[in-house]
Amino acid sequence: MTAADRELYEQAVAVAARAYAPYSKFFVGAAVRARDGRVFLGVNVENAAYPLGVCAEKSALTRAVGEGVRPGEVEAIGITASPCGGCRQWLAEFGLDRVIYADNAGEVVESTPAELLPDTFSF
Ligand code: THU
Repeated sequence: MTAADRELYEQAVAVAARAYAPYSKFFVGAAVRARDGRVFLGVNVENAAYPLGVCAEKSALTRAVGEGVRPGEVEAIGITASPCGGCRQWLAEFGLDRVIYADNAGEVVESTPAELLPDTFSF
């Protein structure tokens, strides 16, 4: 893993403290790095109506898109948890090269959207 990717993961760890997760108390942070070097941070945001909550990955990617980033323009993401199934579909959509995340054993590992979601649905 490159030093830049490790740093991206550390940015995800730092921003996780800002998560709004009063129900699960599971704080997740995500840091997206665009190919132009910009970094966008996100956290999970829960809601009293549980299904309305948003994952950290979607929160970070949504922020990037709002600043003009498009699929193919995202290089990597750092995540403090193993991405859920829905977020894996989002990672596939944006065509990231690398996904750096803390796996269920707590180890920081590197993967790709294709490895995380084989035979991905596309339209
Ligand atoms: N969560 C994320 O933010 N990302 C994931 O990939 C896994 C789950 C959040 C959603 C919810 O707020 C909390 O973690 C517990 O599921």
